Amino acid sequence: MKRIIVIFMFMLLVCGTGFAQVYLDPNASVSERVEDLLGRMSLDEKIGQMTQADRTALSSNSDIATYYLGSILSGGGAAPSDNTPAGWADMYDGYQQSALSTSLGIPLIYGVDAVHGHNNLKNAVIFPHNIGLGCTRNPELIRRAAEVTAIEVAATGVDWNFSPCIAVARDERWGRTYEAFGETAELAQSLGEAAVKGFQGDTLADASTVLACAKHYVADGGTRGGVDQGNAVMTEEELRAIHLPGYISAIEQGVGTVMASYSSWNGEKLHGYKYLLTDVLKVELGFEGFVVSDWAAIDQLDGDYSSDVETSINAGIDMVMVPYDYKNFISTLKTLVQDGSVTEDRIDDAVRRILTQKIKLGLFENPLTDRSLFALVGSDEHREVARQCVRESLVLLKRKDDVLPLPKTNTRILVAGSNANNIGYQCGGWTINWQGGSGNITEGTTILEGMQNAAPNADIVFSEDGEFNNTDADYSVVVIGETPYAESAGDRADLSLTKTEVNLVKKMKELGKPVVVILVSGRPLIIEPILHFTDAIIAAWLPGTEGDGVSDVLFGDYQPIGLLSTTWPGSMDQIPINFGDTDYDPLYAYGYGITSLEDSPAGSGPILESAIVVEDASEIEVTFNKAINDPAPLSNLVFSISGSQSGEIGYSGVVLKENDGTTIVITLQGSVVPGESLSLQYVSGSLQSEDGGMLEPFGPVNVYNTAKAAALALPGKIEAEDYSDMFGIDTENTSDDGGGLNVGWIDDGDWMEYYINPQASGTYMLYLRIASESNAGIIKLTVDDRIVGSRTLPVTGGWQTWQTINQITGFAAGEQTLRVTAEKGGFNLNWLQFDLVVSVDDENELPEQYSLEQNYPNPFNPSTIIEYSIPEYSSVKLKVFNMLGQELGVLIDKFQDAGTYRVSFSTDRYEAVAPSGVYFYTLSAGSKTFTRKMLLLK
Ligand code: BGC
Ligand code: BGC
Repeated sequence: MKRIIVIFMFMLLVCGTGFAQVYLDPNASVSERVEDLLGRMSLDEKIGQMTQADRTALSSNSDIATYYLGSILSGGGAAPSDNTPAGWADMYDGYQQSALSTSLGIPLIYGVDAVHGHNNLKNAVIFPHNIGLGCTRNPELIRRAAEVTAIEVAATGVDWNFSPCIAVARDERWGRTYEAFGETAELAQSLGEAAVKGFQGDTLADASTVLACAKHYVADGGTRGGVDQGNAVMTEEELRAIHLPGYISAIEQGVGTVMASYSSWNGEKLHGYKYLLTDVLKVELGFEGFVVSDWAAIDQLDGDYSSDVETSINAGIDMVMVPYDYKNFISTLKTLVQDGSVTEDRIDDAVRRILTQKIKLGLFENPLTDRSLFALVGSDEHREVARQCVRESLVLLKRKDDVLPLPKTNTRILVAGSNANNIGYQCGGWTINWQGGSGNITEGTTILEGMQNAAPNADIVFSEDGEFNNTDADYSVVVIGETPYAESAGDRADLSLTKTEVNLVKKMKELGKPVVVILVSGRPLIIEPILHFTDAIIAAWLPGTEGDGVSDVLFGDYQPIGLLSTTWPGSMDQIPINFGDTDYDPLYAYGYGITSLEDSPAGSGPILESAIVVEDASEIEVTFNKAINDPAPLSNLVFSISGSQSGEIGYSGVVLKENDGTTIVITLQGSVVPGESLSLQYVSGSLQSEDGGMLEPFGPVNVYNTAKAAALALPGKIEAEDYSDMFGIDTENTSDDGGGLNVGWIDDGDWMEYYINPQASGTYMLYLRIASESNAGIIKLTVDDRIVGSRTLPVTGGWQTWQTINQITGFAAGEQTLRVTAEKGGFNLNWLQFDLVVSVDDENELPEQYSLEQNYPNPFNPSTIIEYSIPEYSSVKLKVFNMLGQELGVLIDKFQDAGTYRVSFSTDRYEAVAPSGVYFYTLSAGSKTFTRKMLLLK
């Protein structure tokens, strides 16, 4: 109130008479005030209103007055050095004083990305990112969350929030998937609208409301391949059906601003797209607020800067987030107006729109920070709202009977994983820094701390990497997922869990106790490799600072109610996959979520949980939600199994797997092809759960084929830790050149498998990077049980004393699994490098009359037949050489008549010197000599 009076008196002084200037009269209508003010403004003042600079680009506060800047923003992480509410308020008020010092005294509008709470401000409450909020399906809660965010933002003086992001994220590879409420227009509409309502309140003039910004217009989440700032290739019908409805709802809710998208629609950038920005958004949808550009986005338009400005302003951008060289923007736009390239009408339209929002915000009446709101920032009351958002956003993906809720007493729980005790990780991108951070970047409760709070009497032990001195426990909780990222830095072609994460889950499962996995991620991850080793899985998204919300459900104080806001793909090759697709067969469908912790009724039949091809691809393991009755009746179960490449696949037996009794193992007759898709149907039988329920026939269902890892191309280098499967080993940090991990703890009989794809058949020189303290290990390389190399390793004299040794080996081209077995352990392996020594694929041309056929079979093991023809009586020699050019033997040495001859060659005679690889045979007939290569694969 005091402030209002001060300004009022200041204005009295300036103009002498009450509100002679209509634009200052709070009782005049908004449009009267806007028209009055517009009428008083010079071109420079108008262009200034259309200019937004980042605070880090300001050369001095006085530039705000000198250039009549209409707006300042803090980009991601651009907090004042005193990152407290008071620090922000001081900064804001300082800028505002400069704006008010101009003759018209038009206040600034200050913008931030408070996309999950006031995330640039230290110790503000941080909400789950939108993808999690989408799972709550609770518009009222989302409205309340936005209201809380608005209060915390307004408390720091800031007027404008570049939120909500109402993207419809159609491809999980997109790094901004988590900023979207989900993959459907419906969620963008209902929750986007709720967020706008929460930010803007009933009246923008309220001290605790802020101007909202629906972004990024339009189809930012529809780009091809999920590329950030990419190209949305689609018909207008699709654009309108999927990506536009969120804007229609936001506009109906009165959203004050819309941010244009960096992306393109069918090759044309949105920032220059007049049809979409003006004809559709402003004219057709009747949007009366203003359109702000994205950060330096107009610079991406074709042509020079002048053309960028001309195109974007004429297309309908009202305010440009320059954000650096505002002087250049201003002078460029001025020249364009002076030479008629941009009309004064267009400028007036833009400025009218901007001023309208400023007046509605009450900025002329209350330009400075309302510091009375400080006390609410990060308050318990606000954290409680965020905690509710967390628990409602959790999606229970999988649960076996009895596993959840966890008991709070008389229990020992092992907690592992890099996302269990890391505030930065659980907040994700757009937290304190643009890209987010690790560790205690702001105040909050980690998921681990939440568990400890919920069950103070339980023995909860934490080890990030799962190394526990005492592994005796009742449960394991493994918290894994993604590390923070924002925007393009989060675009990822592969959403698989890391090998370390998969192994951690396996390792915990080996303890024989139930494993609960909590996924902390900005999008669905490919969890098929762990599905089988878990008893419950919770998608916690990026929950923010209130880790207590996770334990609320984990320990059963609340039932899980979250439903997937996005389809959960089973494999990368299913992406993009969205609700409504034809051929929709995801791991978990949009809208899925187990919403009860009650046990399924006794006597109900077992429900299929997962079917996976394991180990050497000769078995399928099928897991159910409850324990299976004694294996006796398993012999009469009838399945139908088929592979996309193998066709109908027979099986020779079904047994109950020993662990928790919920898994049966079907032994296949023969192996499946790596990468082929398999289906399984349960046709008939009498499989029962322990409590007497009968399994209903099911399927065909998709069987996850674990032999699916992307093949590593040869020649090339393979990191030892990039195995597709392993037995008995572990990884550790290496001090070898290049750092990273090495494989260690290799005992006799341990192995690693690498899924390789030699580009050519031939001999490869394999370089192995090894270290060993005192043991001479023995390494054996096999493909499908054929030995392709074997050797004794030298002792290097230390676990991190590295030496490169080499070994000749040979492969046929194509995808295959290489197993590296330690016949004798006691060494570490850092990498394997394969160089192509000689390929069998490039052959020289023969004169027509002669023919030296390819030997057959080729590749061969151990014998092959070499065929040749000669056109006339000649002296003939046929010799065989090894890959080092040493003569192995002479097969023919005599005169022969014209004709075709076949000679058998077997390596049995040369066993000691015949490892897998390339061999040469040379035919000399008369004066001519021809050479061919052949491949021995043992
Ligand atoms: C993002 C916007 C954000 C802006 C300002 C851009 O990089 O795309 O979403 O509002 O930066 O921080
Ligand atoms: C070393 C590992 C090694 C292991 C073998 C450890 O002390 O750090 O590199 O693999 O011993 O037991």
